Amino acid sequence: MFSITCFSNGKELDIAAADVFSEQLRQKPSSVLGLATGSTPEGLYALLSEKCARGEISFRDAETFNLDEYAGLSPDDPNSYGFYMRDKLFSHTDINPNKTHLPGKGDENGAYDAKIAAAGGIDLQLLGIGRNGHIGFNEPGTPFESTTHMAELTESTRAANSRFFASLSDVPEYAVTMGLSTIMQAKKILLLIKGQEKFRAFAAAYLDAPSPCVPASVLQLHNDVEVFISS
Ligand code: GLP
Repeated sequence: MFSITCFSNGKELDIAAADVFSEQLRQKPSSVLGLATGSTPEGLYALLSEKCARGEISFRDAETFNLDEYAGLSPDDPNSYGFYMRDKLFSHTDINPNKTHLPGKGDENGAYDAKIAAAGGIDLQLLGIGRNGHIGFNEPGTPFESTTHMAELTESTRAANSRFFASLSDVPEYAVTMGLSTIMQAKKILLLIKGQEKFRAFAAAYLDAPSPCVPASVLQLHNDVEVFISS
């Protein structure tokens, strides 16, 4: 079930998303958080970093699992999602680095999902959406039953993400991503849609019958999805 809120601008969306995370951490300091990367959550992470610096929230007892990570980039590569997470959030908070996880080699075929289950399951999963309706790196055609796996990126996703790299040829062709079934295990999901270029993908995910052609449409089958939208 989707609950949808529209905001007049991205800043208001960020504030509301930061409130959702802050409330989650206050209600359950040992929350297991599913985290995303990309441009969309940058404002949210900046606000959470500020709130943590002011002592309004704490990540001390929290544990995090990121959605995905490029294959073949070292964690020190500025384009790796591990670097992004340290840069945008982790290094500005009191989180225990040993309790932050990104999927990597060996995490396919159930291993990452088992780690998430051992931590108690994800309480709150943050998601963005790709222009082709992907979530994590689950590209169109990915089965709804998929668990964490190595995914081949589509040319359109590589082109969209090439803005972070020196050139398109530097964008990795593969990534390890939580599967759609992994994402669906989360108790609550917060999906952020920022920018008109994402509206068509969200409309297909929300209005059309659930189908692997639009990976985000699997979320129609989840019972607690909060969607925040802004232009
Ligand atoms: C990448 C990530 C996704 C993210 C998407 C949108 O492909 N794997 O998790 O949601 O991009 O990113 P952005 O927020 O930069 O548009």
